[in-house]
Amino acid sequence: MSGRIQAPRGTYDVLGEQALGREALAGHARRILEHAGYERIETPAFEVTELFARGVGESTDVVQKEMYTLEGGEGQSITLRPEGTAPVCRAYLEHGMHKLPQPVKLWYLSSFFRRERPQKGRFRQFWQVGAEAIGSDDPAVDAESILLLAELLEALGCRGVRLRIGSLGTPATRRAYRSELQAYLRAHESELSDEVVARIDLNPLRAFDSDDAETQRAMAGAPRLLERLSGEDREHFEAVCAMLDAVGQAYDVDDTLVRGLDYYTRTVFEFTSDALGAQSGVGGGGRYDGLIEQIGGSHTPAIGWASGVERILMTASTVPAAPPPLDLFVAYAKPELRASAFRLAADVRRAGRAARLELGGRSLKGQLKQADRAGARYVAILGDEGTSLKDMETGAQQTVESGTVMHHITRTEL
Ligand code: HAM
Repeated sequence: MSGRIQAPRGTYDVLGEQALGREALAGHARRILEHAGYERIETPAFEVTELFARGVGESTDVVQKEMYTLEGGEGQSITLRPEGTAPVCRAYLEHGMHKLPQPVKLWYLSSFFRRERPQKGRFRQFWQVGAEAIGSDDPAVDAESILLLAELLEALGCRGVRLRIGSLGTPATRRAYRSELQAYLRAHESELSDEVVARIDLNPLRAFDSDDAETQRAMAGAPRLLERLSGEDREHFEAVCAMLDAVGQAYDVDDTLVRGLDYYTRTVFEFTSDALGAQSGVGGGGRYDGLIEQIGGSHTPAIGWASGVERILMTASTVPAAPPPLDLFVAYAKPELRASAFRLAADVRRAGRAARLELGGRSLKGQLKQADRAGARYVAILGDEGTSLKDMETGAQQTVESGTVMHHITRTEL
């Protein structure tokens, strides 16, 4: 057998610098979400297939084409999670969280799996940071949820970010609107692109996204869902917008905003970035007041979002690109001193500082070159005549008692 085995299509390895970016993202997410009362949750990487079929919706692309489904043992069909909302709702029910003070706020940072055509910003295994607030229909929860994602993107210096929001009303409003839109599209068929005509039955809302000029002209007069909302849904949406206005959060109302998952009701939103290509969605979410019922619970309103970690990092400008500084590099003049060097580096690390030593069998000269390359602040050189300590910033070198190295490298910072 020959030939090198590569990572599967649509997956990637996380290497040094990217790992640092991810850690920075995780740190900001934890701080921002936990300050707002969100607790961490992690659910299994796979669930019974029915959870997604019922939760996400049989007619969605995700369920129809993109799930990794396999036989999970005992004849049970399982699916690698394509998203996190249905699993979190399953956990909410399974652990009786409806008995806790509502809303229950949960956040996650996990990997998800979709068999999509890979391209820039689109992977088959990708990570999402997500937040779900379950058990309240208060518009303030919607506004807070949206603001938290805005805050996270801002903390990471994400460039060219824009927020669009809309409301889908109830499933009944949407069904009636869909029929009305289909009738409008059929009446204007001759002005629409073939692609849009072909999707009138399956997905009429996509007509608003068409980039065909004549279609766009025809769509300008099409009925809008926002104009068909019930009084209560409209008030809810206006209350969300008013709260975003009150804190100065910029947004565009988009009455053609469609999301790829079936469970949404009322508020929907999406953050996009000009810094991304065709896959411009940095994160999005919305209300899913019917989802918990769909998966066997009682009526429980909820809202949340998820944001793609890869896409956040592609647009972020403030994530660190360098590892934490190296306080000490320990070099030794001959092999017999290796154990002492090893002990010194271990002691310094145990005291909470970054220390390394040469492990590749290099000469003293090679070790010093390594220390320089690693950007060490100090180098301790263990020789027959004792330990000498070099300050790599000033170039000053002095002989020190070997037990005092730690003292010397911390003293200068005082
Ligand atoms: P979604 O819009 O399907 O929503 O995904 C959310 C985000 O995940 C997208 O905006 C994008 O940044 C990222 N994403 C999705 N698919 C991929 C992919 N194949 N490769 C890279 N990134 C991707 C949800 O998943 C909902 N569960 C969000 C939600 C939470 N709604 C309510 N609560």
